[in-house]
Amino acid sequence: TILVLDFGSQYSHLITRRLRELNVYSEMLPCTQKLSELSWEPKGIILSGGPYSVYWDDAPHVDPAVFDLDVPILGICYGLQEIAWHFGKNVLAGEKREYGHAFLKVERHSGKNTHVDALFNGLEDDMEVWMSHGDKLSNLPPSFVTIATTSNAPFAGMAHEDKPYYGIQFHPEVTHTPRGTQLLKNFAVDICKARQDWTMGKFVDQEIARIRALVGEKGQVIGAVSGGVDSTVAAKLMQEAIGDRFHAVLVDNGVLRLKEAQQVKETLTKHLGINLTVVDASERFLGLLKGVKDDPEKKRKIIGNTFIEVFQEEAKKIAAEAAGSSKAGEIEWLLQGTLYPDVIESISFKGPSATIKTHHNVGGLLAGMHLKLIEPLRELFKDEVRELGTNLGIPEELVWRHPFPGPGIAIRILGEVTPEQVRIAREADHIFIEEIKAAGLYRKISQAFAALLPVKAVGVMGDKRVHDQVIALRAVETSDFMTADWYPFDGQFLKKVSRRIVNEVEGVCRVVYDITSKPPGTIEME
Ligand code: XMP
Repeated sequence: TILVLDFGSQYSHLITRRLRELNVYSEMLPCTQKLSELSWEPKGIILSGGPYSVYWDDAPHVDPAVFDLDVPILGICYGLQEIAWHFGKNVLAGEKREYGHAFLKVERHSGKNTHVDALFNGLEDDMEVWMSHGDKLSNLPPSFVTIATTSNAPFAGMAHEDKPYYGIQFHPEVTHTPRGTQLLKNFAVDICKARQDWTMGKFVDQEIARIRALVGEKGQVIGAVSGGVDSTVAAKLMQEAIGDRFHAVLVDNGVLRLKEAQQVKETLTKHLGINLTVVDASERFLGLLKGVKDDPEKKRKIIGNTFIEVFQEEAKKIAAEAAGSSKAGEIEWLLQGTLYPDVIESISFKGPSATIKTHHNVGGLLAGMHLKLIEPLRELFKDEVRELGTNLGIPEELVWRHPFPGPGIAIRILGEVTPEQVRIAREADHIFIEEIKAAGLYRKISQAFAALLPVKAVGVMGDKRVHDQVIALRAVETSDFMTADWYPFDGQFLKKVSRRIVNEVEGVCRVVYDITSKPPGTIEME
């Protein structure tokens, strides 16, 4: 395992990512991690970039024990400065910022110290690299030699004369450094001798063993599932690990997609063997949503709070049943489908310990129920979760499902949410998605849905004049859901969807297509 110590650079998680692509297992921890509290021995350590200057009073520093471990160290950007600071303290100068492409000249010292050249082994003498830093070195710390330069940074790369310590000013983890992965491979595989044997299959075995050890012989776990990929994969992993001692709960809030509750039940129980309880709370949710018209946040609050109440009531029932049977112990654990990017977002090295963000839907549960969190996906990225899901036999349709918000189609029905409005929005959405799948576009589009606008328009259907509602279609492409572009369907496709919706969904006489990007629009309509 390679240990990545994170100083908070926006690129830090990519280091772990690239290493895993090389089948090298790596874990990222906050830069202040005490090595004495680590339960495993890293084969090498990477110090990430970060938004600080080592000159600042509150600049973070690594546990000095890092330099006593006798394992190779690679400092990237701030990490390089951290190494220099450790070895010389006074060698840094804050200078003007450098951001963007740069051309690197590799300096080789062949003959004298072969380990000094090892980082750039097999790489060209001239390399394109990506820079993003404020400070840079004005001098080398004692016992270091230059291994790379750029026109702007005479010490763009350095290596220790005797020890396998390296520092580079550029970012090898970003795709703008085309040969960066090779450089990371040189470090991890050749210099650290890390094994390239990390696979998803191995992850499953390790994780199942970890869950069993954590939960014990009798422990029980409860968790909410939504039918989305994260919660389903997490649930399947729990089922593999502890069977029916994992209790999945699907809350039908009345604003799921058409026939979704039944489909999720079918797949999770029949196909995946998960111990699932479906709670039909549609009427309760819709009753509370009645009359709520003008404030989308109010819809979100009602749905979020009611979800917690319903889940908690169900959890109590399941716990009571479990207590009645002698087979198992108490329910002590709550499953969460937290992914790596959520973990990174919430790790703070400023506080006394790393704090982990709790999932928006079930976070409130923890306080009242004294449950401990179990997060089997917390080391994975979204596409790794999909790979894992496929490995675990989860149907492709579910593995690739578009994201669906917790408040469901309630935030896609503008204005009041009534059973009739839910019917219209659901049916239109179903047709739209069906046509997207038929056209082979489902995976290309990141998220698509039909929304119901709170207006009426005039139309003619048959010989009759009608005064009915308007459906707005929304489909976007995005890589991170922070920015998004509307999808450029061809006219024939839109014509077909529009004709079907107007003909098949009673109460709709017009269909429009939303051509707003994000920003300024959001992906959802409310
Ligand atoms: P926006 O509308 O903010 O959406 O551009 C970005 C992504 O977040 C999802 N989303 C939500 N998910 N609860 C959720 O669980 C919510 O209240 C919520 N609002 C938006 C949205 O579907 C999209 O994927």
